Amino acid sequence: MKSFYVTTPIYYVNDVPHIGHAYTTIAADVIARYKRLAGYDTFFLTGTDEHGQKVEKAAEQSGETPKGLADRVVERFKDLWRLLDISNDDFIRTTEQRHERAVLAFYERVWQRGDIYLGEYEDWYCIPCESFWTETQLLEGRRCPECGRPTERLKEKSYFFRLSRYQEPLLRHLEENPDFVRPPVRYNEVLSFVRGGLRDLSISRTSFRWGIPLPNDPEHVLYVWFDALINYLTGVGFPEDRYRRYWPADCHIIGKDILRFHAVYWPAFLMSAGLPLPKQVFAHGWWTVEGQKMSKSAGNVVDPYEMAKEYGVDQFRYFLLREVPFGMDGDFSKATIVHRINGELANDFGNLVSRVLTMVRRYLKGRVPAPTSAGGLHKRAEEALQEYGRQMEDMAFQRALAALWEFIGAVNKYLDDTAPWSLAKENKERELKESLYNSLESLRFIAIMAFPFMPSSSECLWRMLGFKGALSDVRIEEAGRWGGMPEGQEVEQPVPLFPRIEA
Ligand code: ME8
Ligand code: MG
Repeated sequence: MKSFYVTTPIYYVNDVPHIGHAYTTIAADVIARYKRLAGYDTFFLTGTDEHGQKVEKAAEQSGETPKGLADRVVERFKDLWRLLDISNDDFIRTTEQRHERAVLAFYERVWQRGDIYLGEYEDWYCIPCESFWTETQLLEGRRCPECGRPTERLKEKSYFFRLSRYQEPLLRHLEENPDFVRPPVRYNEVLSFVRGGLRDLSISRTSFRWGIPLPNDPEHVLYVWFDALINYLTGVGFPEDRYRRYWPADCHIIGKDILRFHAVYWPAFLMSAGLPLPKQVFAHGWWTVEGQKMSKSAGNVVDPYEMAKEYGVDQFRYFLLREVPFGMDGDFSKATIVHRINGELANDFGNLVSRVLTMVRRYLKGRVPAPTSAGGLHKRAEEALQEYGRQMEDMAFQRALAALWEFIGAVNKYLDDTAPWSLAKENKERELKESLYNSLESLRFIAIMAFPFMPSSSECLWRMLGFKGALSDVRIEEAGRWGGMPEGQEVEQPVPLFPRIEA
């Protein structure tokens, strides 16, 4: 069986989850759910990044130990993922023992390769970004070029990773694999960064304690990014052999803010350790809120718990992936989410379901009529599923949804054209059954395609169609053929899937 391994970044525990974290994790969930439907042996990993100066400082401020802070905040992430129906196969915390083991095994490989040496570091450090900058990279007032906050001068003995040694191999890899980084705008960014030259990277710190001590010099703790990236290996069992079942990862989904770490440092570390590189790094865009940059100080941070409560989990998931092409920046606004829920979910999708099921109960005693492929919808359904599959494989979620909605529109039109309510009045039983079979079978296709995006509503639709098993157990290969609604199956009384939201 083909395997598929997808990851999210592991989130820092110095902050509680917000819409940005929810977005990345939902996107990864959508792809994981799709790949399972498509028959892949799928592994989906998320987790938390718990070491480093930033977490140590946050703990100091809240009067906790760093581990105490992590233990508290990690529950917020886990709760949120449960609430949002995230189907991760594992959850990795960098303070777990299995992770320390993996990090030490990885470090050992890099050490044996001769890529780690002791030197002296002096540069400008941004704690919120956990990044070093040279004088020339800084903004005016020695502020961080990434987040604009003040940096600190750091001078310390430090172990270095010979990143410079990997400039040529990285360039070659990028040139030979134009899909290694997506979308293309990010690929070009990485390419020019690598072409600009790579300096060796400081990978240890002595100025604080909250990290994994270096085995060869325990005065030093490992740089948080060196530690954190290895989570992707820990999560699939490294250093035990079983990591090979899923490694190399098929896709690391990240935000564009952490591109360099994933598309430059991480592959260089892996080359040094003699391990295969991930097949792809996909960096998605940035969310603003009602046109504004989201920040604690602006007080406009969107809380995903609140959104899910106010609009519904599936509605929130749908909105995030429908609103913006994956890879581009987007803006979250209440007016837009309400508009999409009322138009696309309640009117187009929800009404279609209630119309069809109500008529099947009224005119056919709730029983599925005999399969037919007369009438043209059959072809539309198979074409829609194919187009949907192509777009999903390409992680073009918005386009996959557009293909689904085009089909929903075609089914609505088919119903209007065949007008089963008139056929019933005129006692045209054969045509009536044909129209309703086609519509029911189309709903089955729609449930399958909607599932990765809106798992619980789709499962609900699946049950209303009379299926006893779970939609999550369905495989597109068999289920994607027309004629799967079994004759005589009893459909349920419809309940509204997506209630309208009154302004
Ligand atoms: O960077 N729009 O963790 P982090 C879209 N621990 N996505 C956003 C966002 C926004 N406004 N804000 C955050 C770290 N994100 C490291 C990662 S991985 C080995 C270590 C998402 O808690 C986006 O995915 O700062 C971004 O990359 C991630 O949150 C950063 O999370
Ligand atoms: Mg961040």
